[in-house]
Amino acid sequence: MAHQAHPFRSVLYIPGSKERALEKAQGLAADAIIFDLEDAVAHDEKIHARELLKATLETADYGHRFRIVRVNGMDTEWGRADLEAFAEAKADAILLPKVSRAADLEAVAALVPDLPLWAMMETAQGMLNAAEIAAHPRLTGMVMGTNDLTKELGSRYRPDRLAMQAGLGLCLLAARAHGLTIVDGVYNAFKDEEGLRAECEQGRDMGFDGKTLIHPAQLEIANAVFSPSPAEIELANRQIAAFEEAERHGQGVAVVDGKIVENLHIVTARQTLAKAEAIAAFRAS
Ligand code: COA
Ligand code: MG
Repeated sequence: MAHQAHPFRSVLYIPGSKERALEKAQGLAADAIIFDLEDAVAHDEKIHARELLKATLETADYGHRFRIVRVNGMDTEWGRADLEAFAEAKADAILLPKVSRAADLEAVAALVPDLPLWAMMETAQGMLNAAEIAAHPRLTGMVMGTNDLTKELGSRYRPDRLAMQAGLGLCLLAARAHGLTIVDGVYNAFKDEEGLRAECEQGRDMGFDGKTLIHPAQLEIANAVFSPSPAEIELANRQIAAFEEAERHGQGVAVVDGKIVENLHIVTARQTLAKAEAIAAFRAS
């Protein structure tokens, strides 16, 4: 369940070196964009991508889409200069790759004093240290890096993502314990709509706010799966009405569709309505 007013159903990666994609994204139905300087950019394109992205963010209009810049790691030759270039950019957050411990965030916090930090969760160490990473006061979001994690674990892709479950669960627990936004990893087969939908549904049912995406063709499915459905909104309204009616009769419990409704269900129902409102407001903006 989202803990913020801004929806993060669809979070689209764009390589910072791809001018056409940067331009196109101004009109795409993404809730958020990750402008990438890291792994989607070839080594000999790094400097060009940094300059192109900096100039693009100055002039382009991404509307209410949340703008996240993914910099190169501090252990690379580009990391520090990326941070210096984007510390005061027209962006909404800086995303650090391969965060393995809270000290990795501390090392860059002073270099980016004014923007919130997000962390790529994609190393074995990062999974084990998710709680201390999530507790860092400057962190507001986490992004699952499931491709890197698969590589580190030596695991194989399966449609049920068996090998990912421990890491996904640890990061989700950590993010929720500290009130962070958290989005799921990418689905690589960007032409496979059925597979994407199933993986979005799995991430949604686990509790993720949305999914990172690699291609515009994936936007519609992620937006639909992570939006409360009309039936869910209708049920939330009925639960709230039934609970309020029960309270008027001095009772703390109601029954809707043969299921018990307690105060905690009303909290969830109100979150569902708030999420639907945030999405409607975002669409109208
Ligand atoms: N964001 C915005 N626009 C994108 C896009 C993206 N991630 N990926 C493709 N597009 C645009 C293309 O520019 C093209 O626009 P046009 O037809 O109006 O000129 C259109 O969508 C269709 O693209 P298509 O030809 O189907 O894709 P491609 O073969 O050029 O590229 C990928 C496929 C996967 C290489 C590309 O989508 C991509 O680079 N994705 C992001 C990868 C990434 O950032 N990875 C890092 C994190 S995992
Ligand atoms: Mg990665």
